[in-house]
Amino acid sequence: MIDIKENISLKPYHTFHMDIQARYFVEYDTVAELKELLASSLLKDNKFLHIGGGSNLLFTKDYDGVVLHSRMNSVRRMDGGNDFVYVVAESGMVWDDFVAYCVDAGLGGVENLSNIPGEVGASAIQNIGAYGVEVKDVIDSVFCIDVETLQERVFSNAECSYSYRSSIFKQELRGRYIVTAVKYVLRKKPEFRLEYGNLRTILGDAPISLESVRNVVITVRSRKLPDPDIVGSAGSFFVNPIVGREHYSRLLSEYPGMPAYPAEEGKVKLSAAWLIDNAGGHGKRVGGAAVYHKQCLVIVNENDAFPEDVVALAELIRKCVFEKYNVELTPEVNFI
Ligand code: EPU
Repeated sequence: MIDIKENISLKPYHTFHMDIQARYFVEYDTVAELKELLASSLLKDNKFLHIGGGSNLLFTKDYDGVVLHSRMNSVRRMDGGNDFVYVVAESGMVWDDFVAYCVDAGLGGVENLSNIPGEVGASAIQNIGAYGVEVKDVIDSVFCIDVETLQERVFSNAECSYSYRSSIFKQELRGRYIVTAVKYVLRKKPEFRLEYGNLRTILGDAPISLESVRNVVITVRSRKLPDPDIVGSAGSFFVNPIVGREHYSRLLSEYPGMPAYPAEEGKVKLSAAWLIDNAGGHGKRVGGAAVYHKQCLVIVNENDAFPEDVVALAELIRKCVFEKYNVELTPEVNFI
């Protein structure tokens, strides 16, 4: 059923939990309904924005258009031969419910991505990642609807042009397609990835299984990151900046303790959290917005923040980091 609400607060629909008003909030249960909506005057005459779990959005003001949300959340598995199983999940499935489904079914590949807020559709646009795994590593293909022609199109993994926290859907094709489902390829015999941070140390002598890895990841995340149901935030506010080798060498000679990781094309990925922390970001606040005390990369809605507070704090952080390190931070969060 198509469900249209008018003039509602988006507070429950985005994880910053600010009281933003939307002119319309529209949900649908099938691809046919999505197509019907796209062809309707409601979407032709108004601007629209498709959201998932709202966990990577910063509404800077009320939204005078249609906010769309998928309620499609079925999941089914398909044979993938001796070693693999395909799982097709619909866009509105809560991401962590999908991870729990795979872990319960004994399928490996997404256990390190446990407890990430958001939904399946957005995960494929954003290329979510954590603890040494990115969702692109397990995506076979992405099912979409073209918002202009209403044609269905399936993008292979290669056609999605995945890179760190990005895809073709955030670049050249931004706004052109709506993801309806994602087909993942998972392993019957899991291959565990425990090199990131202290996952292996925390596991200690416990047997390594999909469940134990999932539990460790959940523990580590909950130690560092705020629970969006309790404290509003959008997870990491900035992406980790990628700089050229020369720039990195100059920085390293001045700041020998600076963490860095190899990145695409021989470049170097720096730790945004470390840069913010060491540029004096810890404890900074503007109005009701604050740098999260356990992880400097997260901005929290600590005390009824207004969007302007978050924007001003983000700008202040960018300025501190740029002035000290000559490194530009780019928001991971989408400003609407
Ligand atoms: N650090 C500090 N100060 C802090 C926090 C961290 O100096 O306040 C330094 C430490 O040296 C730490 C390093 O930063 O070892 C890295 O911290 P962390 O392991 O938390 O990783 P991150 O680079 O800050 C990224 C992702 C997270 C993901 C973690 C774990 C991005 C933008 N963020 O954070 O993803 O959970 O790695 O894999 O890549 C998200 O995207 O919303 C998100 C939470």
